[in-house]
Amino acid sequence: MSIASKTAVAILISGRGSNMGALIAASLDDTYPARIVSVISDKADAAGLEHARGFGIAARAVARSEFDSKETHEAAVREAIEASGAKFIALAGYMRLLSAEFVRAYEGRMINIHPSLLPAFPGLATHERALAAGCRVHGCTVHFVTEGMDEGPIIEQEAVRVALDDTADTLAARVLEAEHRIYPKALAMVVRGEVRMTGDGTSQFRH
Ligand code: GAR
Repeated sequence: MSIASKTAVAILISGRGSNMGALIAASLDDTYPARIVSVISDKADAAGLEHARGFGIAARAVARSEFDSKETHEAAVREAIEASGAKFIALAGYMRLLSAEFVRAYEGRMINIHPSLLPAFPGLATHERALAAGCRVHGCTVHFVTEGMDEGPIIEQEAVRVALDDTADTLAARVLEAEHRIYPKALAMVVRGEVRMTGDGTSQFRH
């Protein structure tokens, strides 16, 4: 697949960017349908920015701390996305709740990865909560982004067995490996139009 025929995708991060790295690595394959045109972080010191630049990808911080309000910050993030030419957005550890207006602007074109089998454990500390609840199975989810936090239609999931001696850290590490498998797969499905968001809170798959 030529670079020009690949769909342009922007990735939003807040930190280390290992999922971003998995998406970039997948996108380097000739047959992968997406190319990463931009990485944007809301934190100036996000390690993922340097990692992305190492691949020759334009990466910049639009730091929340440099803006007076959520509105002005989001406007700057949107400007950066539009300037990159991205058609789809992948949130990869972007730890900021987006406004309804921002979400609507990219409806059906913005996806997120979350470290639990949604709808179980939206929010933070998912591994600690799965262990505390005595779950024998945990995992990760890629979903379309809607206004509710970690609530959008599910695109892909992978389950991970919980070992009796797991700590939050050991469980997080195995879930992260699963995240790196399903995120590139889910992004490819979305840009190929194999799955789309419906209005009723579910995803529609093309068989
Ligand atoms: C990942 O585990 C991702 O699922 C999670 O943050 C981590 C980011 O790691 N995202 C959320 O919790 C969003 N609700 P990474 O920067 O190495 O990809």
